[in-house]
Amino acid sequence: MSSKTFYLETFGCQMNVHDSEKVVGTLLQEGYRQVETVEQADLVLYNTCSIRDKAEQKVFNRLSDYKKYKKQGKTFGVLGCVAQQEGEKIFERAPYVSLVAGSASYHKLPQMLKQLENAQLENAQLEKVRIESAILEAGNSPTRKPETENLVRITGLDDRETDKCFETEFTARTNPHRGYITIIEGCDKFCSYCVVPYTRGKERSRTSQSVLAEARQMADLGYTEIQLLGQNVNSYKDSEGNPSRRKTFAELLAAVGEVPGIRRVRFTTSHPRDFGRDIVDAIDAVPTLCDHVHLPVQSGSTRMLDAMQRLYTRDQYLERIAWMKSAKREISITTDMIVGFPGETESDFAETLSLLDEVGYDAVFAFKYSPRPNTPSIKLEDAIPDQEKARRLDVLMSRQREVQITRYKKYIGTKCEVMVEGRNETRAQWIGRTTHNKTLNFVIPPTTNQTADPGAHATANPKAGSYVPVVVTGSFPNSLLGELVV
Ligand code: 5AD
Ligand code: SF4
Repeated sequence: MSSKTFYLETFGCQMNVHDSEKVVGTLLQEGYRQVETVEQADLVLYNTCSIRDKAEQKVFNRLSDYKKYKKQGKTFGVLGCVAQQEGEKIFERAPYVSLVAGSASYHKLPQMLKQLENAQLENAQLEKVRIESAILEAGNSPTRKPETENLVRITGLDDRETDKCFETEFTARTNPHRGYITIIEGCDKFCSYCVVPYTRGKERSRTSQSVLAEARQMADLGYTEIQLLGQNVNSYKDSEGNPSRRKTFAELLAAVGEVPGIRRVRFTTSHPRDFGRDIVDAIDAVPTLCDHVHLPVQSGSTRMLDAMQRLYTRDQYLERIAWMKSAKREISITTDMIVGFPGETESDFAETLSLLDEVGYDAVFAFKYSPRPNTPSIKLEDAIPDQEKARRLDVLMSRQREVQITRYKKYIGTKCEVMVEGRNETRAQWIGRTTHNKTLNFVIPPTTNQTADPGAHATANPKAGSYVPVVVTGSFPNSLLGELVV
């Protein structure tokens, strides 16, 4: 068993979750062993998020909580968006940190780990020599050096202009049935509130050949669901060497959906400006493409969209919604929204609220505007008090709750195929997910022949990862309830 151990905690989005799967794979390959607690680990890593201030504060809170572990000789590393954003300042705020690396530098992770190990080894040897010679000279043990004096500092912060993606064959996927594939990294959109272009660097796409090879490999391993990931998947640009084989995003999506063995393909996140009708055509043509699109709108007011530098109007956004609504299958639509952006008036906010009814979203992820370092909007006065942002958030979420109550009710009586995700023992229900990305919890109806064996089930227990038909019997604002069709 390997002696070097690591603990990794992930904050933030799906992109970070998947980056962590690749970081874990890389560490395992480098001879580390993953452990479940900080106490057991030699190397403690945080993969961080800085999309909003709250997320960033969480990281620094965690680091100060774990300061005590430094005395036990543990090594700390900060990865991801906070690492890239704060850079070497992290060493000032948390002097016991040894590794700071942004996601654009992950392709160099094996080298950085080796550098870290070598530097630590060298330091330990120097310290040993120092102590031994002090004992020889003075006949007694020297005073211990301050904890932070000998610290090794490795950084990976200078790769935001890289063309390289973090591709590794050693991804340690956490779910055996459903997995992510990154198709594009970074972002060139520069929405005025967003740190991502500064933390994840410039946009760079993988080749379609490499994405498809990964999809086929996953299918061979038994995966049936693939989620294509990118900050803006719609601006995917295939750099495949053979120009005749280059694919648009919609073509890549369709090709992944046609990989034998793959039953469901999802993708996130889409940017309305780059979202083409060809994506809806692909969903129409390829049955494995899920009936769900996450299309972040951010605001229902064209004036605010302009201030946010989103590059589309409310009407253009609604045009994309109309494409989806005219699809052959019913496409479930979800979105992200920001309330309290500088200058958002009551009437702008009212336009955001009216969009909820007009589109009929199945889920809305709404956030209070949070000014972020380096972004253009930090220069605007953040004049809407937090209390008012909180009020708008509340109003928005309760209006959306009403929308969802109505929308989810419509499924009652329909039959849906779900992928089984597991079982909730306390509620004695199986957990499933529909193609619309809705949670559909279900039970197995008792056998009709009650007299023969009252407790018997008409069918065997469904296995995680399997696909089963379920009839919807009830609905909640965020989930459905049903019975397995036997
Ligand atoms: N403040 C609040 N929400 C933000 N988001 C991105 N940046 C900010 C910010 N500065 C939200 C957007 C985006 C989602 C991932 O996070 O809605 O779509
Ligand atoms: Fe941020 Fe806009 Fe890029 Fe999305 S598209 S990651 S919101 S800059």
